[in-house]
Amino acid sequence: MKTELRDYPLTSTIIKLKTGRVQLTIVKDPDWFLDRLSHEDSDGRLYLPYWTYLWEASIGLARHVEDIGTALKDARILEIGCGFGLTGIVACRMGAKVVFTDVEQDALRFAHHNADQNGVKENADFVQMDWNTPCFNNKFRYILAADVIYEEHHWEPIVTLFQNYLVPNGIALLSEPNRNNAIGFFKRLSDTGFVYQKSTYPVKLEGRTNRVSIYTVRRVNA
Ligand SMILES: C[S@@+](CC[C@H](N)C(=O)[O-])C[C@H]1O[C@@H](n2cnc3c(N)ncnc32)[C@H](O)[C@@H]1O
Repeated sequence: MKTELRDYPLTSTIIKLKTGRVQLTIVKDPDWFLDRLSHEDSDGRLYLPYWTYLWEASIGLARHVEDIGTALKDARILEIGCGFGLTGIVACRMGAKVVFTDVEQDALRFAHHNADQNGVKENADFVQMDWNTPCFNNKFRYILAADVIYEEHHWEPIVTLFQNYLVPNGIALLSEPNRNNAIGFFKRLSDTGFVYQKSTYPVKLEGRTNRVSIYTVRRVNA
C-alpha cells in the first residue's frame, strides 16, 4: 500500500505510554475536514469523517493493551475502525500480529505509515473493511475496537462480527468514552450471550483528562 499522506495537512504527536512512546502522524486540522467531508449517505444518514481525529478511547485501550501485554504475545488480532492505528501499534509491540481494518482507505494509509515509523510494520497487515461486510475466512483470539459504538446502526454489525470472528473463548477489547447511548450496545451484547468486565483509565488529551471505559467481552459457553 502506498503511504502517501500529502493530500492532508499533517502534524505529529507523541503518545507517552508505560512501555515507551508512540509517534503518530495525524491530520492537522480535523475540524476543517469534518466540515468539508460531512454529507448525507444514500440512506439519509449523516456521514462524518471521524477517522481524521485521534480519540481518547484509543489511548485508553492502548494502555490496557500494554497492561495485558504478555497475553497478546503471538496472538493474531483483528482491529476494527483502527483510525490512525495507535491501539494496534501497541498490540504489535506486545508481540501480537495485528490486522488493522477500517472502512476508510485514507485511515489505513495513516495507520500503515504510523506502524512503519514505530517499527512494527512486520507484525501488521492492513485491510480496508466495512464491519457490515467483513471479509475474513479465519477467526481471531482478540478483536480490538476503540470508539466504534457511537452510532446505534453500528451495534448489530459489530455484535455479529464478534459472534462470527472470535475463536471459542476469544476476547473483544472495546473502549468508549462513557457516552450515554453505550448502555444500549451492552444490553444487546448481553442479550446475545456475551459477558463483559469493565475497567476505566484516565486519559489526558488536548489538556483535558477524561475517563475511558474498557470492556473485556467474552462469549458465554462459546
Ligand atoms: C471514532 S473513530 C475511532 C478511530 C480510532 N479507533 C480511535 O479511537 O482513534 C471511528 C472509526 O471507525 C471507522 N468506521 C466507521 N464506520 C465503519 C464501518 N462501517 N466499518 C469499518 N470502520 C468504520 C471510522 O473510519 C473511524 O476510523
